[in-house]
Amino acid sequence: MPHPIIAIDGPAASGKGTLSRNIAEKLHYAHMDTGSLYRAVAFEVLEADGDPENESDSVRAAQSLTKKIGEASSPSSILDNPKLREDDVAVGASKVAAIQRVRDRLVTLQRDFAQNPGEGYEGAVLDGRDIGTVICPEASVKLYVIADIEIRAERRMKELQSKGIAATSGTVLEDMRARDARDTERKSSPLKPAEDAVMVDTSQLSESEVLEKALEIIQEKLSGPTIS
Ligand code: DC
Repeated sequence: MPHPIIAIDGPAASGKGTLSRNIAEKLHYAHMDTGSLYRAVAFEVLEADGDPENESDSVRAAQSLTKKIGEASSPSSILDNPKLREDDVAVGASKVAAIQRVRDRLVTLQRDFAQNPGEGYEGAVLDGRDIGTVICPEASVKLYVIADIEIRAERRMKELQSKGIAATSGTVLEDMRARDARDTERKSSPLKPAEDAVMVDTSQLSESEVLEKALEIIQEKLSGPTIS
């Protein structure tokens, strides 16, 4: 029996990252935050004074990233860089992610991770924008995590404040709308739910309630032993 793959997609600040980490921890699955790949490409472009909207700058960075990850002892040594969480990198990431040749360079890495999550792991959880639709259409469970845009902007505000970064709620909301538009309206692998995805709305739920709901769905889909 192949191991289960859980695909989790959704817009920025919907809660999919936290949920994916919590599921991975609970079920002893390996987790890949695929957004960090696009962030790492953007970071590399910006470090080289390139333009994330320039195809050759971004494709070159994607090639160099996949090579570095291939040579590293684990992808997390590159993808856990706190600089990848910065705002200019996030904006750059949504630009490089619209370039099909960048996406093509990152497909194999993500599929390999899903197929070979590593020794000791019982499955794989990947979160992003196109996991259920493009990267792992065969995933055993697909969740599409959403939340009202005002709530997502509020979460983002809190995150910025906790890092001591000043921002106004109007600007954060505007940025969120712009990123949503770039993610959903691009031609290459736009953000959308897979036909067989189950929607999880986190607007009114706590972190543990979201996890509980997701575990119920997973258990039903996998019809495995009780998860407690
Ligand atoms: O989830 P995130 O905010 O870290 O993602 C950063 C950007 O990368 C986001 O604007 C969309 C893009 N992305 C993507 O296009 N496909 C993925 N599987 C993951 C992220």
